[in-house]
Amino acid sequence: MKLTAYERSILAGDFGDEARKILEVMVKVYEVNGARDFVEVGEVMLASTQNMSISGVAGMEFLTSLADSGIRFKVKTITDPVSIDLGAWQRLGICEEFAEHQQKAVRALIKMGAVPTWTCTPYLVGSIHRYGDHLAYVETSVVCFANSYFGARTNREMDISALAAAITGKTPCYGYHVADNREGQVLVNVEVELRATSDYDALGNYVGRIAGTRVPVFRGMPRDVSTQALMQLGAALATSGAVSLFHIMGVTPDIVVDPYKYGERSVVEELNIGEEDMRRAYAELNTTGETAIDFVALGCPHYGFEKLRAVASFLEGKKVREGVEVWVCTSRAVRDMALRSGEVEVIEKAGAKVVVDTCMVLVPVKQKGFRTMATDSAKAQFYDSGFGIGVRFGSTEGCLRAAISGTWEG
Ligand code: F3S
Repeated sequence: MKLTAYERSILAGDFGDEARKILEVMVKVYEVNGARDFVEVGEVMLASTQNMSISGVAGMEFLTSLADSGIRFKVKTITDPVSIDLGAWQRLGICEEFAEHQQKAVRALIKMGAVPTWTCTPYLVGSIHRYGDHLAYVETSVVCFANSYFGARTNREMDISALAAAITGKTPCYGYHVADNREGQVLVNVEVELRATSDYDALGNYVGRIAGTRVPVFRGMPRDVSTQALMQLGAALATSGAVSLFHIMGVTPDIVVDPYKYGERSVVEELNIGEEDMRRAYAELNTTGETAIDFVALGCPHYGFEKLRAVASFLEGKKVREGVEVWVCTSRAVRDMALRSGEVEVIEKAGAKVVVDTCMVLVPVKQKGFRTMATDSAKAQFYDSGFGIGVRFGSTEGCLRAAISGTWEG
């Protein structure tokens, strides 16, 4: 294993216990996965704070000590959302102590050189990659998107192994960094027309559960499938399964470069998705029969500008029903654009909140006492159901109609 003098000095403890432990994990990951070398990474994405395995106060103290040790990130390092809206946490009902811990961790990450993106859709705000670029990303939907849409190469990093990549600028070469591990394994014939972005969530959720950790190859999807649809598909695949890469025939780069290698050679299972499967896929995502909605959560993954514009267009001149909380989650960068072009004002005038830096999964929403949530995201459905909230899943328009009436009509 080739390590630099700097990396060896970190392993010797010259930068403190935190940095030493991080590099020990890198060495272990290298050995356990039988890596033969490291690859240099062009960008790293870190878990932020609450969602780190050492979460909460311990995570904050770990990052603060690391930053105080003099460690600095060697490559561009972006950040996943945190658990508060950093500029307006009070209006989400978050307590001061919790917010202060988050802010301390944020300051530590910035001190080490992180770019304060706080979003799970960094590709909408500047993280664009070339085919074959090596990355080290943590957030599962972003891993899936970067591998599939750009043909970049990243494993599903743990928070600590991503920190190691940020510090060293490299990651062990195994898994999706190796071309032969990127071949399609489950062929999915899509025999229905996919219209709403929620159709891609439902499909991804359904297929992800069957695919598990394998690589699905979709046949029959439109060539002009939107970026938003692919965001939703990847997030859902990565949630119900552990999919980190998918191919779409005629669309995604690996399979366009070599249709035989990535699309046929290694396929071991074939699925056909028809109308009945899609009905079942939607039904599985509705975990309650309750029709009274008190929380509407949109923007998982963080919405892009076009989605914010569509929400504003729907809500213009309407009012969210009293007693219903509506969150439209996006990145700060996209929100700032929509502030200037007026969409944020329209959405907030209707009584909904444009939420940035965080989301309906990372904020402790259960403590807010919500009983039934409407969402257009399979990933939000999965996690918020886990918090004990009943979930109605459907199209963005269906969720917005529920926001206005307080009742789920589908
Ligand atoms: Fe992003 Fe939160 Fe969903 S981090 S992918 S909006 S769970």
